Amino acid sequence: MEETKNCRDSLVIKTSLVLPPDTNNIGTMFGGKLMAYIDDVAAISAMRHARSNVVTASTDSVDFLHPIHEGNAVCLESFVTYTGRTSMEIIVKVIAEDLVTGARNLCVISFLTFVAINEEGKPIPVPRLVPETEMERNLNESAKQRAQIRKKEGKIHSSLQVLSV
Ligand SMILES: CC(C)(COP(=O)(O)OP(=O)(O)OC[C@H]1O[C@@H](n2cnc3c(N)ncnc32)[C@H](O)[C@@H]1OP(=O)(O)O)[C@@H](O)C(=O)NCCC(=O)NCCS
Repeated sequence: MEETKNCRDSLVIKTSLVLPPDTNNIGTMFGGKLMAYIDDVAAISAMRHARSNVVTASTDSVDFLHPIHEGNAVCLESFVTYTGRTSMEIIVKVIAEDLVTGARNLCVISFLTFVAINEEGKPIPVPRLVPETEMERNLNESAKQRAQIRKKEGKIHSSLQVLSV
């Protein structure tokens, strides 16, 4: 029988306190540090879905909508939104919380694509995703448009192959 998984099977929630080593000279969180957290939680979601090793195939643009300040809690939530044959799209939502006032701001929404791989690093099939809630179904439907955009961008990247390595 075909193996299927739900979005909640790959749900990851990570909350961290933003400390001085995580921040820049104006007291807001380093973008690179946040991107490492994003890649981390997304990879765990992908592995929970595929139950295999995975690699990051692509990261969509990451727009920082709101600064995250030293002393804030930063909360990341991720889960699989779409599956192809061997690839998985993951959404990562980042919320900053002022722990004193309780104010919460949505800072980043990002989509990443991971591919499940075997011991030789070759892509392997993943279980089909079955979205359950209305939000999950919306994300699953809109994934096809995001994949189109990625394909278009891929064409742009391949036209840059004249750049030597
Ligand atoms: C990702 C990777 C495994 C794909 O291998 P490949 O031999 O090109 O495999 P395929 O062309 O058969 O593609 C496999 C799947 O990946 C998807 N894919 C490949 N490149 C992609 C990209 N840039 N963005 C989104 N999806 C991509 C394909 O659409 C396909 O999905 P599907 O099976 O669901 O239809 C390979 O390119 C790789 O290992 N890249 C390096 C990954 C890495 O090191 N990541 C860490 C970065 S530091």
